[in-house]
Amino acid sequence: MIKSKIAGIGYNVPKNIVSNFDLEKMMDTSDEWIQTRTGIRERRWVEDGMANSDLALPACQQAIRMAGIQVKDIDAIIVGTVTSDYNFPGMAPIIQQKLGITSNIRAFDISAACSAFIYLLEIGDQFIQTSKYKNILLVGSDVMSCTLDKTPNGRATGVLFGDGAGAVILSPATDDSCILSTHTFADGSGVENLHGKAPGSKFYPNRINKEIIEQGHHFITQNGREVFKNAVTRMPEAVKLAMEENNLAIEDIKLVIAHQANARILEACATKMQLPEEKMYMNIHKYGNTTAGTIPIAMCEAIQEGRFQKGDIILLTAFGAGYTWASAAIRW
Ligand code: COA
Repeated sequence: MIKSKIAGIGYNVPKNIVSNFDLEKMMDTSDEWIQTRTGIRERRWVEDGMANSDLALPACQQAIRMAGIQVKDIDAIIVGTVTSDYNFPGMAPIIQQKLGITSNIRAFDISAACSAFIYLLEIGDQFIQTSKYKNILLVGSDVMSCTLDKTPNGRATGVLFGDGAGAVILSPATDDSCILSTHTFADGSGVENLHGKAPGSKFYPNRINKEIIEQGHHFITQNGREVFKNAVTRMPEAVKLAMEENNLAIEDIKLVIAHQANARILEACATKMQLPEEKMYMNIHKYGNTTAGTIPIAMCEAIQEGRFQKGDIILLTAFGAGYTWASAAIRW
């Protein structure tokens, strides 16, 4: 059977650093509260005029360079995001255009929030396994800063999120390096606990108007405690499935790269998985929760830090709005 591999990977974060001390001036919060509850010290927020596709483009170009292919070799672009440039069309055709791809390849978005990157891997992996496409550009990218209430009213959620992008080229495996498995799940009973409602057809006929904005429906809203409880249950469950399917013991795993939402969530997951602390990757302190961006960004930084090498087995896991959650096992 044909397997797929990550042939190239790249990331990009905005230059503009927003520290917890900067947030103290906006949101009636404190560095101490944010660090103790979440482990976040700073995050990056785009400056005016930078759309999600602008943020994602350098990540795509890096991934393409690393894969050693030309843009004309890309057969499909799939983007995972909840903060596309426009309400529609998706961001994938915008990326297609910005990359200068003039052939009529397929390009579309998926919406699976913080689990999007693993959903993308699963979709891309299927297209490669069936030989439908050869080189697929997968992009996980979000500009969460435009969904936040940056006033004291929004402090419970506003301190958690940052902007960031990651991209990979998925191609047929040529040796042992490959995606070993993916598992994706959803539970729609979680919708009301984490969402950004407007603009949406639920607000017929306009999707967005002054009243909807006054009510804050265009901001991300969540029940933090419920989300926390579900995240620390679902990610270990998904990792367990990945380990069982691939017959893996903890000793076989070089690194777990989990969605970076909160350091306490990652620590609780590591404890449940009986995973030594050093095998749970963390860069949340620098970027906060970048939604679809966290996993590819963390993978890139882990590679730069020499945390895994060719032949090593890494596990990915994520949890997010929907609820959605997922895991993937990869031999790098
Ligand atoms: N700064 C200071 N105080 C804050 C605050 C902030 N940014 N946000 C909330 N508070 C206050 C609350 O008002 C509350 O005050 P009260 O006790 O006087 O009512 C107090 O801090 C405790 O709030 P609580 O919500 O109980 O804190 P918590 O320990 O549950 O932590 C989260 C809150 C959001 C950090 C935590 O629930 C969490 O991380 N949940 C998961 C969120 C997430 O990761 N979502 C994305 C998943 S993809």
